[in-house]
This record gives sequence, structure tokens and C-alpha cells, in this order.
Amino acid sequence: MHRSLTFKNFSLKHDFEAVRALLIACNDYVIFEQGEPTDDAYVTGYFRNCPPGQNPVLKHSIGVFDGETLVGLVDLIDGYPRPRDCYLGLLLLTPKARGRGLGPQVLDRLITAAQARSNKRMLLCVLEENQGAQRFWKGQGFVPLGVAKAVTIRRKKHVKIEMVRQV
Ligand SMILES: CC(C)(COP(=O)(O)OP(=O)(O)OC[C@H]1O[C@@H](n2cnc3c(N)ncnc32)[C@H](O)[C@@H]1OP(=O)(O)O)[C@@H](O)C(=O)NCCC(=O)NCCS
Repeated sequence: MHRSLTFKNFSLKHDFEAVRALLIACNDYVIFEQGEPTDDAYVTGYFRNCPPGQNPVLKHSIGVFDGETLVGLVDLIDGYPRPRDCYLGLLLLTPKARGRGLGPQVLDRLITAAQARSNKRMLLCVLEENQGAQRFWKGQGFVPLGVAKAVTIRRKKHVKIEMVRQV
């Protein structure tokens, strides 16, 4: 067990630069997702993007620290799509932090927190081309839900798959 992983609630006002630096370090993923590297609009979107009809104020933007180092970002929103659901919009670790078992630890913490808030399900979307992430989510107990949907993210066309697990 990694002992020094900590979470900090992030805000657009205070943490824009830290998030920008993290997302630039993760340009492999950003370019895979949207066909372009991180820019200010992408950083702002991390704080503001929300499922349809949801209030961005209710979104949790969370920085994941390994000791003093920011190694990842999470965003999630409660009460979507159903009142007892928790929707994970993003789990992103820097390339150096991947493949070391931090992802499962972060998810464990998120699941425990979701249980404490009386959520019953956690949902997320994964891009079909992101085979590594699909294996990761399946290994963490998520199963596909509904039909895959075509989506365009800036310059990239994708198919997105919704997944769900009980919490
Ligand atoms: C998906 C992610 C959160 C998993 O966390 P993790 O701590 O790396 O999890 P694990 O250590 O259990 O490894 C999970 C998978 O990532 C792969 N991985 C490991 N190191 C990697 C690296 N440097 N780059 C890309 N993938 C890597 C592993 O090979 C493993 O896939 P496998 O099952 O085919 O072997 C993390 O790899 C990540 O942030 N990836 C980029 C962003 C992403 O795809 N997020 C999910 C969006 S739905």
C-alpha cells in the first residue's frame, strides 16, 4: 500500500496553473483524446465541463498527490444520471505515475468516499480505442452499460462506452 497518496479539492481560481502543468505532462492522453495538445480551454474544461443539465458547482475537481508531487487528476459529480449515482468524469495519472498500482488506490478512495455519501453506483465513459483503460476498468469491477455512442472531441472521432459498478 502506498502511504503518502493524498487528495486535495481543486478550484479554477487557485489551481489553474498546477492543473495546466499536469495536463501538459499528460499530453499523450490529451492528444489521443482530442487530436491537439493541452491549451487553456482544455484546462478550463477540466474545472467546468459537466454532464448535461448538471451544475458545475457540484462537481468535485480533485488533485492526487504522491507526497508533495501532483501525480493525477480526478473529476466527479454526485447525483448523475440518477440521484444515488456518482459520475467519474476523469481519472488521469501522469505517464510516470502509471502502471504502479496508483490507479486502483485512487479508485478505492473514491469508492469509499462515494459509499460515505450514500451513492449506490459509480459510472464513467471510456473511449473504445483506449484498450488499456478498458482493461483497467473491467479489472476494477466495471461493466459496459447500454450502447456505445459515436462522439467527436475537437479533431478526433471516437466511440465512447459507458461503464458502471456498484459502490
Ligand atoms: C488508466 C489509469 C488511471 C490506470 O491507473 P494505473 O495506476 O496506471 O493502473 P495499473 O497500474 O493497474 O495499470 C493499468 C493499465 O495501464 C497500463 N499502463 C501502465 N503503465 C502505463 C503507461 N506508462 N502509459 C500508459 N498505460 C500504462 C498498464 O499496462 C495496464 O494495462 P494492462 O492491463 O494492459 O497491463 C492510468 O494508466 C492513466 O491515467 N492512464 C491515462 C489516462 C486514462 O486513460 N484514463 C482513463 C480514462 S477513461
